[in-house]
Order: sequence, then structure tokens, then C-alpha cells
Amino acid sequence: MEKEERDKWLLAGKIGKEIRDLGISMCVPGAKILDIAEAIEKKTIEMGAKPSFPPNISINQIAAHYTPKFDDKTELTKGDIVKIDVGASVDGYLSDTAASVAVGEGENKLVNATKEALEAVSKMIKPGMEVHQISEVIDDVISGLGFSPIVNLGGHGVGRYSLHEGEFISNSKNYSGSFLRKEGVVAVEPFATTGGGYVIDSAEVQIYQLASIKNVRSSLGRDILKYISEEYNELPFAKRWIVTKFGRFAEIEIRNLVAAGALNEFNVLKEKDNGLVSQFEHSFLFDGETVTITTL
Ligand code: CO
Repeated sequence: MEKEERDKWLLAGKIGKEIRDLGISMCVPGAKILDIAEAIEKKTIEMGAKPSFPPNISINQIAAHYTPKFDDKTELTKGDIVKIDVGASVDGYLSDTAASVAVGEGENKLVNATKEALEAVSKMIKPGMEVHQISEVIDDVISGLGFSPIVNLGGHGVGRYSLHEGEFISNSKNYSGSFLRKEGVVAVEPFATTGGGYVIDSAEVQIYQLASIKNVRSSLGRDILKYISEEYNELPFAKRWIVTKFGRFAEIEIRNLVAAGALNEFNVLKEKDNGLVSQFEHSFLFDGETVTITTL
């Protein structure tokens, strides 16, 4: 790998770690999740990057894909299980990292289960290895601690301007014959729950992604689409960001753009049995025989 490319992956990882830790440090009783998201975004930009995707701040039975609304009033309460899932983009070189915390409490068994699963993976992951070996480690650690791994969420390959590509690294044992890439970045993200271990789409959507540029009739719709393609490329973005830039009418335009096939939606994911959910995630850079956790 060229040094310049490697350095960008590493910087994206370092910024990812900083903003994840900032988010976790702000998870105290009474904190507004909108303030946390905005602090993460501000720090990302101050450090010279852009978000890889909107900060996901998902509480309790919500597993992923929640980012605050532009007027979000949600406050954290003691005992909430909060997942902070964030990433930085340095010229399209991305990081993706997450941590969980039990708000206002110390150690938490559910939180520790995913932390330990990720630590176990960090000790054995190698470029080009069979994907199911990683799934087995995650499943064994989480199940061994009395929780269920979430079977339909998992790790993934990461490319330039491409958050999810190639490998899918399931969190439950399987016999897939696929292999990890030998060079580049993969993200590993164990999820554990007190429920059965399956997430479903809820009706709510706060995060979108450009699908394709379409001809749309409204001039506001055209302006929004142009802005999205220039500002975010094909990386996910928050409805909040568009409403902040274009005003409240943008909400209607976003719906129209989805209907026209210009945007994809990421539904908020919730655990089917309303189980509590925890998550940890790191980005791993493979370069030759070396493995570097960019978000450590
Ligand atoms: Co990820």
C-alpha cells in the first residue's frame, strides 16, 4: 500500500477514536443526544475530516441507525444502554468505530460482552483468513457470557467513499466459505442483546444515502440533490443536516427524492424482542502481513 494512502486510513482511524471517546464521555444522565451529535460533528471537522456517516446514537432496544432529529429533545437517563457509532472521512478514506456505555453506571455485563468479543477478535484477526472464524469467536464470547449475538448485523469491508462493501462478518456461527481481504480495511462490530438476537426495521428514518441522480421537478429538490452529491458523495447523511441547511420544507423534498429513487433510506433498527443492545466496533487495516487497529 502507498504510504500516502496508509497515512489517510490511519488519520481517519485516529479521528474516529477521538470522536467516539468524546461521545462516550458526554453520555451522562440528563445529556441531550443532539448536543452529543453536534459536538462529535464539530470535533470531526476541527480535526480536518468529515463524518463517514452521521453519528449514530442508539439507546436501549434501538440497535443502530438513529441520529438525532434537528429539534431532538431526547435526554439520557441513568441506566440507558447507549451505542455511539461514528466514523471520519479523510479524503474518502474512512473509519468506522463504536462503543457502548451504561449511563451513570460503572461496569455493565451486556456492555462488557461486546467489548470482550471485540478484544478476542483483535487478538486473532489476520488478512485473508476465513470470515467464519471471526464469527465463531464473537458468538462464543457473547453466548458464553449469557447474551445473544445479533445475527443479522455484522462487520464489513470498507473502501474509499464506500462504508459497506465486500465481506459481511456475521456475529453468529456459520459455515460461509468467504475470506477477508488481504489488503485494505475491514470493520468488525459485535452486537449483543438480552433479546433473541435479531433486528427489524422500525418505521422511522433519520439517515439517507444518495442512490442515483434523478431529474426532479422542484427546484428545491434539485438543489438538495446537487448539495448531497457534492457534499456527501455516496456516504450516508442525516436528515438533520439537510433541514439545517435548507429549512423545514426540505423534509418534504427528502420524501419526494426517496419516492423518485434518488435516495436510499436507513430505517432505525430495533431488536425484535425489545431486548437491550450493546455494540463495540473497530476498523482494522491490513497492509502486507501487518494488522493495525486504526481506531484503538
Ligand atoms: Co460498521
